[in-house]
Amino acid sequence: MLTELSSHPIVSHHITVLRDVQTPAEAFRQSAAAVTRILMLEGAKQLQLDPLCVQTPLEEAVGAKFKGGVVLVPILRAGLGMLDACLQILPSAAVGYVGLERDEATAVARCYYSKMPSLVDCGHIFLIDPMLATGGSAVQSIEQLKSLGAKRISMLCIISAPEGIEAVGQAHPDVDVFTGVLDRELNEQKYICPGLGDFGDRLYCT
Ligand code: PRP
Ligand code: URA
Repeated sequence: MLTELSSHPIVSHHITVLRDVQTPAEAFRQSAAAVTRILMLEGAKQLQLDPLCVQTPLEEAVGAKFKGGVVLVPILRAGLGMLDACLQILPSAAVGYVGLERDEATAVARCYYSKMPSLVDCGHIFLIDPMLATGGSAVQSIEQLKSLGAKRISMLCIISAPEGIEAVGQAHPDVDVFTGVLDRELNEQKYICPGLGDFGDRLYCT
């Protein structure tokens, strides 16, 4: 399932700021966080709950707690630009990291780092990466998460290309994708158009 949030005025405003080549790093980071908070709130609707009773100062109240733990997995390095905003919504989440870098000539992603908490009994995993282009990085990451026992995975992306959505849907139809906006297409260099350029470079001034 694909959920696109571009009709949300806050998402629309901040994606425009992100796209603007004139936007400095500080504003770029703030807008990335603003879009991510909304993606995370929407994605968190998928969390399953167990009932929990608590004692208020007056009486007992029936509430809820998350069923199983939540794990956030940013894809390095650009996914780090979304992590703090996700943790603001889910401060108790565990965090795993996967480091992937696309070869500039082939656009094929190579894994250079991975560090995960236990995923076996985890309630839900959110893979976070701002750009879903060919989908190669996402498909590879999801394979890795599943090989470690992950069962319920959703992906949060700020901008997606149709090619990336198609690739994830083909390889992992059970993974839902939440995106700020679905863009037109990839160019010959496999950059998303109109896109925002290289997210990692704009986030870290490289
Ligand atoms: C970017 C982005 C995604 C990937 C998407 O990372 O953050 O991880 O490209 O492209 P794909 O869907 O075609 O795989 P990049 O390889 O530029 O590394 P970086 O985050 O370290 O800049
Ligand atoms: N990675 C980016 O940072 N931007 C794109 O357009 C595609 C992949």
